[in-house]
Amino acid sequence: MNFKRNIIITGGAGFIGSHVVRLFVNNYPEYKIINLDKLTYAGNLANLKDIEDKPNYRFVKMDICDFDGVYQLMQDEHVDGIIHLAAESHVDRSIKDPFTFAQTNVMGTLSLLQAANQIYSASRIPHSAFKFYHISTDEVYGALELTHPLGIEPPFTTKASSGKHHLAYGDQFFTEDKKYQPHSPYSASKASSDHFVRAFHDTYGLPTVITNCSNNYGPYQFPEKLIPLFINNIRHRKPLPVYGKGENVRDWLYVEDHARAIDLIFHEGKVGETYNIGGFNEWKNIDLIKVLINTVDRLLGRKEGEDMDLITYVTDRAGHDLRYAIDSSKLQRELGWEPSLQFEEGIEKTVRWYLDHQEWLDNVTSGDYQKYYEEYYGKE
Ligand code: NAD
Ligand code: DAU
Repeated sequence: MNFKRNIIITGGAGFIGSHVVRLFVNNYPEYKIINLDKLTYAGNLANLKDIEDKPNYRFVKMDICDFDGVYQLMQDEHVDGIIHLAAESHVDRSIKDPFTFAQTNVMGTLSLLQAANQIYSASRIPHSAFKFYHISTDEVYGALELTHPLGIEPPFTTKASSGKHHLAYGDQFFTEDKKYQPHSPYSASKASSDHFVRAFHDTYGLPTVITNCSNNYGPYQFPEKLIPLFINNIRHRKPLPVYGKGENVRDWLYVEDHARAIDLIFHEGKVGETYNIGGFNEWKNIDLIKVLINTVDRLLGRKEGEDMDLITYVTDRAGHDLRYAIDSSKLQRELGWEPSLQFEEGIEKTVRWYLDHQEWLDNVTSGDYQKYYEEYYGKE
């Protein structure tokens, strides 16, 4: 079968990647979508059960660091698009094991770039018909202060370019030209990968685009990250380890809104450009945690707030960034994207999803999800 485009999505068995794969497989039956994933602890093919039999979908278990394998796959599949999400993504793990982060996030990205560039330069695919799209994070910009020039106590509302009001904890935001100041081994590795992507554009003319996104939330997130971990703990009445004083601020975006932005930028984003993607939705951790407790309690028929005593303040994360806040007005202005979901709606939907998918969570926490590849695709 001939497809209009042949696209590799790396890290498609992970949290955001699975939403991106699903969106592309369902919305573009004329494209072949090749999900390239190593299936580390964070990769879970059960995230894609609903689309795994579609004729335009193929899963390939592969490490992005395997240059020969990646090159061969790109050649065999006549690839003309790469959407690169595969990464080690958890800050706490990066503090314990920085080498793995450098290996996957830096060397892995370099291996993909080198393979893509060789394929692209040897092919007759026009510049406008090829894209290497690198998914990165707002953490590369470092941390912002909790300040307001008029001394107004945060949180306060500011106006997004769309005219919508949103919650903010400071008057400064990450814009695309903000200096890179990563603090954790994770963000340092992502920053380094971003530099390599720009270098391949500037040096070899590889058609690249980069996006830096804020914290995502929604279904299929690995329960080591704040929101799914805490929902699961509240359900089972386990302690909620709040780092430091819970004062850190994150800007939360519903994962399907991120996937929608990726779709738009893959198709319409300008080559060589960087776009920030954010939720215009800042929350102090402790306030967000209280919303989670109230929502889980309510949905489980408990008295709202009765699990507040699960909050347990623990030693802060080393190098813990105080505040992230994305200014995504460039993306709104140039490509017309903005978040579709209000936070209240998104968080309710998310809590409901985890409560309704206890089996998914149990499989992940027990490790059973790692048997899925063999069960579905057979022994290697
Ligand atoms: P995740 O940890 O849930 O998934 C990562 C996926 O990459 C997994 O399926 C894993 O198996 C795969 N992978 C890891 N190492 C690999 C390797 N060497 N070769 C092939 N596959 C490998 O991550 P996520 O939260 O979905 O994040 C996806 C991307 O988005 C990452 O690049 C991350 O930096 C970026 N990002 C994440 C967020 C967020 O809030 N989660 C926000 C902004 C940007
Ligand atoms: O900003 C984008 C980034 O968001 C992505 O690039 C990362 O891949 C993603 O993991 C996320 O990073 P964070 O470190 O912000 O996410 P995490 O869910 O680990 O933590 C959110 C906040 O909650 C952070 O301030 C640390 C705090 N926290 C986290 C955990 C897991 C706690 O207080 N207790 C916890 O147990």
